Amino acid sequence: MPSHMKLEELVQETRVHRRIYLEPEIFDLEMERIFESNWVFVGHESEIAQSGDYKTVVIGTQPAIVTRDENRDIHVLMNRCMHRGSTVCQDNHGNSPVFRCWYHGWTYNNRGELIGVPYADAYGSGFDRRKFSLIKAARVATYRGLVFASLNPEVEPLADYLGNAKYYIDLFMDLSPEGEVESRSGTHKYGYDGNWKFQMENGVDGYHPNFVHQSFFEIQGKQLGRKVMQLFTGNAEYESKDLGNGHAILDMAPKHRAANRPVSNLLRGATSQASRDAYLSSMLQRYGERRTAEIFAASNVNLAIFPNLLIIGIQFRMTIPVSAKRTDVHLLPTTLKGVPDEINVARLRAHEAFYGSAGGGAPDDVEMFNRCSEGLRVKGAEWLELSRGIDREYEVDNGVIVGHITDETPQRAFYRRWRALMLSTAEPQQRVAKLRIAPTA
Ligand code: FES
Ligand SMILES: [Fe+2]
Repeated sequence: MPSHMKLEELVQETRVHRRIYLEPEIFDLEMERIFESNWVFVGHESEIAQSGDYKTVVIGTQPAIVTRDENRDIHVLMNRCMHRGSTVCQDNHGNSPVFRCWYHGWTYNNRGELIGVPYADAYGSGFDRRKFSLIKAARVATYRGLVFASLNPEVEPLADYLGNAKYYIDLFMDLSPEGEVESRSGTHKYGYDGNWKFQMENGVDGYHPNFVHQSFFEIQGKQLGRKVMQLFTGNAEYESKDLGNGHAILDMAPKHRAANRPVSNLLRGATSQASRDAYLSSMLQRYGERRTAEIFAASNVNLAIFPNLLIIGIQFRMTIPVSAKRTDVHLLPTTLKGVPDEINVARLRAHEAFYGSAGGGAPDDVEMFNRCSEGLRVKGAEWLELSRGIDREYEVDNGVIVGHITDETPQRAFYRRWRALMLSTAEPQQRVAKLRIAPTA
């Protein structure tokens, strides 16, 4: 623990201390009390669509393999040979019914059972293979195709954990007239020299776009013939929401909910009228007019699921902590099942334009994370200010707190949950979720 200050003093209702981004001891505690005690996002079912498919992931900093067995059940196996510790799988993804450790050849099936030991007779009669299965994540659950794992057997049911966020996840998945999206277009990766929390804060930060992304918006505005930067001004009619449990959203829908915007702006100009008509008609057939309008109105999404998932634009984004000062990020762009190819191609091209490595948006965010990491080395300015909108946010149904889109309501939501988990040891999640921190002067 850092000297001179207690952990509970480092995160307050409207400000956080710079040390939470820098201290290895705090990072270690985050891995234990947040990533190893909670649900964490590990991927989408479509990434392991076939029996035998697998992908490797990291839970906190622990390597794991997400597999699908011959019964199509999903397993999350810790990637650690039970002989002497080597990882048993090094590929990002693939298809195999077994994992053979390269060190001494111990072999496991994709349910994690040890099925092969070279020259086994030397182990004697007391050796019981069944005691050497790969360790499994204590809990695995899915919601609308999103796969979550937890190393904590006592973790609350996933549906309860997602809570108010489920409504917004449903809207995203329902952009498909079959109610299913797929993440099979590859993984786009980047990393930065900074703390993982910068990425999670930024994914639902409606205060920064007009500055960090100014040049992109100006170009996009010219293409679309409208002022994109009006989305994120102080007068914009959009909201940010604390959904509880650390989840948050930039809700850009309310203004359009009654306006029946038939097809997302994202697709205008990039697709033919025939494709858009076919898409719209299949949506109307499945969902009816009212729900279709609601789905399209919400199609511009920035949703954060604590602690490591962002759903932004068309992508699932996984934040992977490496150390206090290093983070990897995986972007999984999605396609919609049941729509004309042209629609999915347009979605992917729009994604690349902003989030690609040569894109106009995401690289600028990463630059901000690097600059914050550098700036936070300054001693004497100890606090990061998160008070924007504190006096105008208000609570609505189910404990949702609503702020203006440019307010720091989502960041306060994140740190309220962070603080509750970091200060708890083995408290039931439901109790932790209800903790509220008194505002400080
Ligand atoms: S460490 Fe895996 S077989 Fe020896
Ligand atoms: Fe950004």
